[in-house]
Amino acid sequence: MYCVRNVTEDLYWVGANDHRLHLFENIHPIPRGVSYNAYLLLDEKTVLFDTVDWSVCRQLLENIEHLLGERPLDYLVINHMEPDHGASIEEILLRWPEVKIISTEKAFMFMRQFGFRVDGHECIEVKEGDGYTFGKHNVTFVGAPMVHWPEAMVTFDTTNGVLFSADAFGSFGALDGKLFADEVNFDRDWIDDARRYLTNIVGKYGPHIQLLLKKAGGILDQIKYICPLHGPVWRKDLGYFIDKYDKWSRYEPEEKGVLIAYASMYGNTEAAAQALAAKLCEKGVTNVWVYDVSNTHVSYLVSESFRLSHIVLASVTYNLGIYPVMHDYLMHLKGLNLQNRTFALIENGSWAPKSGDLMQKFVEDELKNMTVLNERLSLASALHPDKAGELEALADAIKESMAN
Ligand code: FEO
Repeated sequence: MYCVRNVTEDLYWVGANDHRLHLFENIHPIPRGVSYNAYLLLDEKTVLFDTVDWSVCRQLLENIEHLLGERPLDYLVINHMEPDHGASIEEILLRWPEVKIISTEKAFMFMRQFGFRVDGHECIEVKEGDGYTFGKHNVTFVGAPMVHWPEAMVTFDTTNGVLFSADAFGSFGALDGKLFADEVNFDRDWIDDARRYLTNIVGKYGPHIQLLLKKAGGILDQIKYICPLHGPVWRKDLGYFIDKYDKWSRYEPEEKGVLIAYASMYGNTEAAAQALAAKLCEKGVTNVWVYDVSNTHVSYLVSESFRLSHIVLASVTYNLGIYPVMHDYLMHLKGLNLQNRTFALIENGSWAPKSGDLMQKFVEDELKNMTVLNERLSLASALHPDKAGELEALADAIKESMAN
């Protein structure tokens, strides 16, 4: 059975939801599912913007067949060919062999690399600023390299103000009927998944997102709809989400607040993390979030690290090094280019505490534009009352630094 929704009078969402996939990119948990968005324009020509993951191809085909009826599919615009969007290209070509494919040179190269058999079909290569007309609708193609792969572009329909934004402005989470961001309580129910999606998938490429935002800035008053490849379509309050993207891609925290990420083997480092959280709250710093790195998927830790201004790393020493799961979290922060945060450290070690120095070295040498507070809580196996002064000093230093 088809399942489509109108975006505008002649533009339809023809994508699908997926609640079966557990790990997006085989890494990131998606307990709320994910949507793969594709859009069909019924103009004088019929145009499909992107396809979907192979797992939901059948739904895409039913949707397109329902809307096309006896009409042919004239064009397939591929903004982003990563297989979660491009895997169904070949099936579209099999069903509508006369369709003309519009995409970038790199995208066609990747399609061939992935084995999507596009040769033998008309492939129209476009580049930055090229235009095309489908009847009453005129579109302009805009390069969006590294948002999220190098071949990506976005398409702007100058007739109705629809921006097909590819991976930009996307989110984890299945739509489940609610196509538009204004049909959900986005700030309550979606923002955490949107942040987790952006920071983990495209976080590394902040400067490229900034470049795209700059291009969008030039036509901001003309953009009426943002149609991403995952998550809700935006038609109201676009500034809210653009502002979030701006902050995330500049690596600026959204909020003053403290993330305490602890690695604890027997509960003693955890107890110290909790004691610090309580001490901070006692001092009036209540935007405090405590996570066990061993049972929190790193994608959530990354997302929270992008949200908050201060990060406390509390780690046992393990094989004279940083606890491996904590080290993995730090490696993700490095890979995703997080910057401009203030760190504080709690170390623990029963005979040779090393984790504090090692974490400090990692933050200072491997991450960019980070500050590490001088105050450090150093534990020998467990937190005891003789460390009350150090705990107090650490909480005071964090509070003071947040006031700046
Ligand atoms: Fe949703 Fe970069 O693909």
